[in-house]
Parts: sequence; structure tokens; C-alpha cells
Amino acid sequence: MCQPATVTILPSGKTIVAAEGTTLLAAILAAEVELEHKCEGQAACGTCHIFVQEGRRGLSKVGREENEKLDTVVGVGSKSRLACQAKVLGTENIKVELLSFGSGR
Ligand code: FES
Repeated sequence: MCQPATVTILPSGKTIVAAEGTTLLAAILAAEVELEHKCEGQAACGTCHIFVQEGRRGLSKVGREENEKLDTVVGVGSKSRLACQAKVLGTENIKVELLSFGSGR
């Protein structure tokens, strides 16, 4: 069964409902918010780096590829995720913050 969760996107504050299994990248783009994603979701570029401010447990766990890529991205913190790798589980609502500057370049 697909459970939806709400994804709030800062700083614009736009909100979108995302079905279980949707990546944060897909949700953010569906909300018509721009987010770079140069490698088209291959965990290879790091340009989709975002911060998850709330609802981290409502996302899929960080995988090895994501972890390795995040290690190479500038400005990574404990809330960092690659939007293309983090999938909505539908168990919690999520709040993400986009960076005002590009990263991973
Ligand atoms: S789009 Fe390249 S790492 Fe996410």
C-alpha cells in the first residue's frame, strides 16, 4: 500500500504530498522547485545535496553510494542527504531545506 507523506520545501515553504517510494528529488521537482540534479539520480554528482530538517526517520536509510558521495560534497552536515537517493517511506512528514548555493561541484 502506498502511504503518502507531506514534504515541505524551504526556503520557499512549498508543500507537496509524496507517495511512498518517491525520491525527495522527484517530490521537489514535482513541486516546481528547482534543484540541480546533474547525474539524473545516480548518486554520482552531489548537486542534489539538501538538508533534512524534520522527519529524517520518514526517509529511506543512507546507502553506501550516497554515503560515499556525501563524503566528497562541501558543506555536508548531519542533516545532509542526496535528494535523489532519499525515498519517502510515508511514515512521517518531512521538511527539507535547499541550499542557496550549489554544492558538489
Ligand atoms: S542527482 Fe546526482 S547525486 Fe543526486
